[in-house]
Amino acid sequence: MQKDLSGYRKSYEKSALLEDRISNNPMQLFQTWFYEVEESNGIDEPNAMTVSTIGLDGFPKSRVVLLKKYTHEGFIFYTNYNSEKGKAIEENPKVCISFFWPNLERQVIIKGNAGKLAKNLSDGYFESRPDGSKLGALVSDQSKVIASREVLERKLRELEKEYADKEISRPEHWGGYLVKPASMEFWQGRPNRLHDRIRYSLTNGVDWKMERLAP
Ligand SMILES: Cc1cc2nc3c(=O)[nH]c(=O)nc-3n(C[C@H](O)[C@H](O)[C@H](O)COP(=O)(O)O)c2cc1C
Repeated sequence: MQKDLSGYRKSYEKSALLEDRISNNPMQLFQTWFYEVEESNGIDEPNAMTVSTIGLDGFPKSRVVLLKKYTHEGFIFYTNYNSEKGKAIEENPKVCISFFWPNLERQVIIKGNAGKLAKNLSDGYFESRPDGSKLGALVSDQSKVIASREVLERKLRELEKEYADKEISRPEHWGGYLVKPASMEFWQGRPNRLHDRIRYSLTNGVDWKMERLAP
């Protein structure tokens, strides 16, 4: 079986990324870009991002998670700490996050260090979730092999009874990660494959160095 995809060809012409028009701070630029993606209404889940980790088996693995907050400190997502990614991060906190916003012909790639979010912050976010999502976090031993879907459905029914009139509190194994960026690379598609790539790297833990990379 084969399919030739060489005919897919697109010229990127929507925008430009020029040093004298952008902030010295990559979080500022991220904020601008994120705002523009939201305003464009052209992406269903603009906060969907790919998080890559180096697994215990030595392979990198990427999966999509939802960005739930960004601050001057970094990027926050929530997951199961015992999942494959949780175990990977425990062993090696260096991760890569990437966003692709095709309607604006933009990509952002962030390398950084992931650490567990303070418990009270994870509690706060857990509290804000609907009950169904809270129970989902309790039901699922994320990334474990299970015998069937029925296993999940049964456990959910049991927990629904158990928590019918009880408050559902955050299980210890579920919470947020804050990824503090060490470098952030912004890619803007341009005509003739001469795309703009600007990389910011943290030099001494505080200052950002901006460099243009060849496309
Ligand atoms: C659009 C989308 C959003 C997702 N959001 C999350 C999320 O916020 N947290 C999470 O743990 N998994 C999320 N997932 C599921 C993950 O991609 C992945 O299947 C899960 O986290 C288990 O990954 P792991 O076994 O590599 O740890 C999402 C998947 C998709 C497609």
